[in-house]
Amino acid sequence: MNKATRKAVIAGNWKMNKTPAEATALINDIKATIADKKTDGCDIIVGVPFVDLAAAVEAVKDSAIKVAAQNVHWAEKGAFTGEISAEMLKAVGVEYVIIGHSERRQYFGETNETVNQRVKAALAAGLKVILCVGELKDERLLGITEEIVAMQTKVALNEISAEDMKNIIIAYEPVWAIGTGLTATPAQAEEVCAAIRKVIAALYDCTLAEATTIQYGGSMNAGNAAELLSMKNIDGGLIGGASLKAPDFATIIEAAQA
Ligand code: 13P
Repeated sequence: MNKATRKAVIAGNWKMNKTPAEATALINDIKATIADKKTDGCDIIVGVPFVDLAAAVEAVKDSAIKVAAQNVHWAEKGAFTGEISAEMLKAVGVEYVIIGHSERRQYFGETNETVNQRVKAALAAGLKVILCVGELKDERLLGITEEIVAMQTKVALNEISAEDMKNIIIAYEPVWAIGTGLTATPAQAEEVCAAIRKVIAALYDCTLAEATTIQYGGSMNAGNAAELLSMKNIDGGLIGGASLKAPDFATIIEAAQA
């Protein structure tokens, strides 16, 4: 398997934006914008806030768009005020969950170990995972990007079986490129995505590594998506700001059809 046989995945991460009614409106906008376009060259996901999930699941019903949550707790249930379990997400019809986003690591104390626990809980409940990894600006400047990303990947995938890897997408998101308008160059993004694929080959095997979808995220937009997505090891995008505008998101989906 290679780039030509891996299906691209274009996922929007809406972060803390949109009420349920606004989520329905944006999904309807996206559906209308892509209605007459070729879209079967990629999977399309929208990652919405918890309170929007039910509305989003309803709104995507007659389309190819899938819904992701933006986090999940590792416990099955219990005294964890404010948290949401994998079973709850499944029950509202959610298919994917984003885990380990750098904003969760930066602002909410997420560690590689808790990322691993969340990945296990999500997979056990039958959810598919978008696992985020990425280096800080200082780590890039120190020249340790690949070590950092390898460590994040290895710990997050600790005790995850080869079988379960079929349900994991990895998103490489350099923290310095998120929401800053600074995009990694296609060469920089490609270099790290290729390194992540090598880590997966070492943990599992080459066939599994070649079959794994690896996205790039960090200021991907309508203008730069085509070039990033043309790189050999970049199989899609995890898009923040630009996923909140239907025409821009549609342009990125179009760029993934090549
Ligand atoms: P931006 O596209 O806004 O930089 O956000 C990227 C991101 O964090 C997606 O998860």
